[in-house]
Amino acid sequence: MSTASKTTQLDDLKAKILADKVCPELAAQATQLVFGDGNVDTDIVFIGEAPGKNEDIQGKPFVGAAGKFLNEMLDNIGLSRDDIYITNIVKYRPPNNRDPLPEEKAAFLPYLQAQLDVIQPKIVITLGRHSMNCFLPDLQISQVHGQPKRIRWILTHDGGEKTETSLVILPLFHPAAALYNGGLRQTLIDDFGAIPAILKLIETKNLLNKQKGTA
Ligand code: URA
Repeated sequence: MSTASKTTQLDDLKAKILADKVCPELAAQATQLVFGDGNVDTDIVFIGEAPGKNEDIQGKPFVGAAGKFLNEMLDNIGLSRDDIYITNIVKYRPPNNRDPLPEEKAAFLPYLQAQLDVIQPKIVITLGRHSMNCFLPDLQISQVHGQPKRIRWILTHDGGEKTETSLVILPLFHPAAALYNGGLRQTLIDDFGAIPAILKLIETKNLLNKQKGTA
């Protein structure tokens, strides 16, 4: 069982990314590692793609225009950044905001998994296809956005022991893509609007499983 606090475990994980020299070429061009931000005791984790210019400067995910839009959509459903945790797959800014490369996503994936294993959210909301494909590699975002999917998850505990569990993934479009595209923007706002009902459904299901002794 875990003894260290979640914050300590996340600090250790951040230090490990630096010590392991993950993606040294990206690191050399970036201002800093953008690890993650928000409430570590949350049930809801958002995962984006990679830091942009503002995130690289400030060291926090989603602090630019896409972040502002995200904050507005959170506010619409009665949530704030203090209620959620947010991170990216790739934790250094790719030069000129290019798409993260497959090898960069693969290099950071074990650390993202470890980050989720510390926080243990009930739902992971992926922003954009890169993030979705880490969890749902065979799906198209245009076909499954807004639809929660339950995946098998091998949870690695702080002590190293593993437990088989499941995790709900909700794929959404990326707010940066939706920001200046009217149709996509409304679709993302509508998908966001369904989050409270999806959370309620997960809670009810977990409660029922607990009553049945299957949780
Ligand atoms: N886009 C992302 O995917 N992540 C950020 O942190 C900012 C913009």
